[in-house]
Amino acid sequence: MSTMTKELLQSGRTHDCGSLRENDIGSEVVLYGWVHRRRDHGGRIFIDLRDRQGLTQVVFGPDIEADTHKLADGLRSEYCIGVSGKVISRGDNKNPNMDTGAIEVEVDGLEIFSESEALPFNVSDDDRLDTNENIRLKYRYLDLRRPSLQRNFILRSRLSTTARQTLAEAGFLELETPYMVKYTPGGARNFLVPSRLSPGNFYALAESPQIFKQLFMVSGLDKYFQITRCFRDEDLRNDRQPEFTQIDIELSFATPERVFAHMEKLMTRLWKDVLGVELQTPFLRLTWAEAMGRYGCDKPDLRFGLELHDIKPMSKDCGFRVFEAAEYVKGICVPANKADKLSRARLDKLTAFVKKREHGGAKGLAWAKIQPDGTWKAPFAKLLKPETMQAIAEHMGAEPGSVLLFIADNFHTTHATLNALRLELRDFLGLVEGEAGNQWKFCWVTDFPLFEQNEKGQWVSSHHPFTSPRTEHIEYLLSDPGKVLAQAYDMVLNGNEIGGGSIRIHRSDVQSKVFTALGLSPEEIEQKFGFLLNAFKYGPPPHGGIAFGLDRIAMLMCNAGSLREVIAFPKTQRGSDLMTGCPGPADDPQLEELYIRHRQLPGDESAGNESAS
Ligand code: AMO
Ligand code: AMP
Repeated sequence: MSTMTKELLQSGRTHDCGSLRENDIGSEVVLYGWVHRRRDHGGRIFIDLRDRQGLTQVVFGPDIEADTHKLADGLRSEYCIGVSGKVISRGDNKNPNMDTGAIEVEVDGLEIFSESEALPFNVSDDDRLDTNENIRLKYRYLDLRRPSLQRNFILRSRLSTTARQTLAEAGFLELETPYMVKYTPGGARNFLVPSRLSPGNFYALAESPQIFKQLFMVSGLDKYFQITRCFRDEDLRNDRQPEFTQIDIELSFATPERVFAHMEKLMTRLWKDVLGVELQTPFLRLTWAEAMGRYGCDKPDLRFGLELHDIKPMSKDCGFRVFEAAEYVKGICVPANKADKLSRARLDKLTAFVKKREHGGAKGLAWAKIQPDGTWKAPFAKLLKPETMQAIAEHMGAEPGSVLLFIADNFHTTHATLNALRLELRDFLGLVEGEAGNQWKFCWVTDFPLFEQNEKGQWVSSHHPFTSPRTEHIEYLLSDPGKVLAQAYDMVLNGNEIGGGSIRIHRSDVQSKVFTALGLSPEEIEQKFGFLLNAFKYGPPPHGGIAFGLDRIAMLMCNAGSLREVIAFPKTQRGSDLMTGCPGPADDPQLEELYIRHRQLPGDESAGNESAS
C-alpha cells in the first residue's frame, strides 16, 4: 500500500534518523523510518521516527494541509513512513538524551509506505520488553528492530569487516572450503546430508575447515583465512550454537610465537576499531598445567583473584582423614574484606553447591573461618594439628576474617569443583561488577595434553587428531599417551575460550602414529584419512593455525549473556528455529528419492515399523 500526500520514495532520503544536528536547522529534509512513539498535544502530533541510525522527532502542526494532518492522525506504532519537512530548533525543549535532541522536523509531507498490525510485543523500548524469548524468536524480524539488538548487529558487522581487512592487509588470502564434506569420526558429532546421486551415502556438514585449510598449506597458498560457518550437532548452551561462525586462519612455516604475534595484532586492531579500546600485548601466557593448577580450569577468568592453593604438602599426617586420604587437597582463600558475606547459612549453601554433579560433584566442602586471634572456626578444627593450620593459613595468605574453602578429591573433581566454586563466588561476591567488569583479560593457554581419556577409558584427541605433539614427546605416543603434550593453544578472554588452534602434524609417519594411538586400525586410517596422509607425501610445509569463535567475540564485545543476542536467526537450546518451524518433516517423495524410510519414532505408534535404509 501507499497512502500519501506527497510521493516521497522517489525523491530519496536526505538523511538518516540519527544524523540531524543544530547546524542543519533551516534545511529541507526527507526521512524514512518507523513510527517509534507518538504523542498528541492539542492538534500537534509528535512522532519519534526510527531507523537503524537513531531517532528524530517529527511534528505535524495544526497548520499543515488538512489531508496530511488527517493521515498523520492515523499513524500507529511501527508504520513504515516517509516524511518531508524543515529542520527547526527545539528551543528550550531540547532532549539531551537523544543525539538529534536539539532539533525536530516540521513536517509538510507524509507518505505511508505500509501499516503495521498491533505488535506481539513492544519493540520500541528495550527497558520495557514485555515478552519471553520464545515469542521474540518467533517474530525475530520484529525483535531485530529493537535498538539494543540493532546495536549488536552493527557491532558484529564492524567486527567482521575489520577482521577481514586486517587479515587481508597482513597477507592472508580469503579462500573458501566446502561445507559438504566427507564424514570423518573423532571430532564433534556431525550433521549428515543424504546423497540422492549416491543412494545410501551421506555428506557431513563441515564441523570446521580444518583438513582443507591444511591442504591449502600443502598447496603452497601459505596464509589463509575465512570467515565461515561451522556445523556441530552438540548439546547446546548459551555459548554454543549448532551453526556458528569462525574466523579460521592457517599459515605455513608457523611456530606458536608467530601465530601469537599475528593473532595479538588482530585482536588489538579489533578492540581498537570496534570498541575504541587499547589492548596491551603480549598477552599473558599460561601453560595448561599452570591454568589448571591456579584456577582449576583451562579458560580462567583473570579479572579477579581467588586462586587455588595446593595444601597437599601440609596435609600429610595432619589428623583430618579427609585431607590425609585424598590425592589432591586444594583451597581458595576469600579475603577478609569480602568474606563477611559468607555466613554459616551461605557456607551450607555452597556445600550443597559443590556436591552437585554439574559443579564437579565433590563429597563435601571443608570451610574454615579465621578468628581474630588467628585460630580456626571449622567443623574439623579439633582434628587438625595447630601447626598444620598455621602452615596452611600462611601458605594461603589468610588473615583474621578470611574464609578458607577446601576440596579434597582426585585431580578432576578437585579442580572442576574449585573452578565452579570460584566462579560462583565471583558472582555472589560481585567481584567483576562495575569497574572490575570493564576489563579485558586475555591470555593464551598452551601445552595442552595431546590426548584425554573418555568415559570408556579410550584415548581421544583433546583438540583434533591433526595437532602436533611436542617433538620431544613423539616417542611416548604409543607407550605413554597420557604424558604427551601438544603444541596447542587457546585464546581465552574473561573466562571464555574465544579461539583455539595448534601447530599441525605435517609428517605422515607421526600422523599415522597419532591415529594408531587413537585406536584406529591401518585399514580405518587408510579409509578415513588416506587422502590426507597421501597429501603429506608431497612436500608439505610445517604449518599451524587457529580459529576464533566470531559469535563468542561479538557476545563478549556486546556484553550479551547468550550467543542468541548476536546471531541474527539463532536456534533454541533444542536446536529449533521457532520462526520458520524447523526442523520439520520431509515429504515422502523427497525421502524416497533419497532412499530413506521412516522408522517408528519414539512414542509414535501409528508410524510404519521399518528400518532406515
Ligand atoms: P575449535 O573446535 O576449538 O577449533 O573451535 C574454535 C572456536 O570456535 C568457537 N566455537 C563455538 N562457538 C559457538 N558455538 C559452538 N558450538 C562452538 N564451538 C566452537 C570457540 C572455539 O574456540 N579447527 C579447529 C581450529 C584450529 O585448530 O585451527 C577448531 O574448530 O570460540
Ligand atoms: P566429615 O568428616 O565427612 O563429617 O566431613 C567433615 C567436613 O569436611 C565437612 O564440613 C564436609 O563437608 C567436609 N568434607 C567431606 N568430604 C570432603 C571432601 N572430599 N573435600 C572437602 N571437604 C570435605
